[in-house]
Amino acid sequence: MQTEDVSKDFSQVRHIAFIMDGNGRWAKLRGLPRTSGHAEGAKTFDKIMRACFARGINTVTVYAFSTENWSRPEVEVKTILKLMSQYISYAEKKINENDIRVIFLGDKGRLSPALRKKAEALEEKSKNNGHILNIAFNYGGRDELVHVFRRLIQEGKTDITEDDITSRLYTAESPALDLVVRTGGDLRISNFLIWQSAYAEYYFTPTLWPDFSEEELDKALLDFCARERRFGKV
Ligand code: IPE
Ligand code: IPE
Ligand code: MG
Repeated sequence: MQTEDVSKDFSQVRHIAFIMDGNGRWAKLRGLPRTSGHAEGAKTFDKIMRACFARGINTVTVYAFSTENWSRPEVEVKTILKLMSQYISYAEKKINENDIRVIFLGDKGRLSPALRKKAEALEEKSKNNGHILNIAFNYGGRDELVHVFRRLIQEGKTDITEDDITSRLYTAESPALDLVVRTGGDLRISNFLIWQSAYAEYYFTPTLWPDFSEEELDKALLDFCARERRFGKV
């Protein structure tokens, strides 16, 4: 008898990304400070990222902190930085059992030297693991492209191809982006993976990120699988 649950095999999705939005509103609805929404959102992140890997998806990207998010109240920014530091410590302990390679997308130059060191150490220690978890932190799509162009100039390139750009993005190690899920109800991309999403599919849901569940993940994946991607062809 076949006992394996093949209904949860979504390995045709090679790369999924999440705009994890709605933490603040989730907290406000409960009369809690916005910071507790971020703490709850961190738990959802861990659960959903694992659920993706369990469904055969090899690369997961999450938008955790944007280049624009520095303009938030100091207490909120500090909380998010602290949560990231805690996550890195936790991930570091689990490197051997988890088979997850963590890559940070974004400019680490604006992080404190301590957080930067921690992030780089986790990248280095997990680099031989199989699944890719990209954490976009101090990430901006425009900022990423500026970095790429600066590099190309430094390298003295004058004739530039699309591949030259793609291979210098923070996502250089990742396969092409298939699906972007945004929670929280807003219909925009907020400077996320602007080059990479040229032919990605989008899934928007009003569900606030801390409430996002495995059931809803499956709904998004089934929706994606039913779409016809034409890439400009007929
Ligand atoms: C997303 O949730 C997390 C970050 C941007 C760091 P928000 O904090 O943006 O939550 P809302 O959109 O205000 O509800
Ligand atoms: C996008 O959410 C950034 C992250 C989820 C980290 P924002 O809440 O910052 O986006 P806007 O301000 O609604 O566009
Ligand atoms: Mg938001």
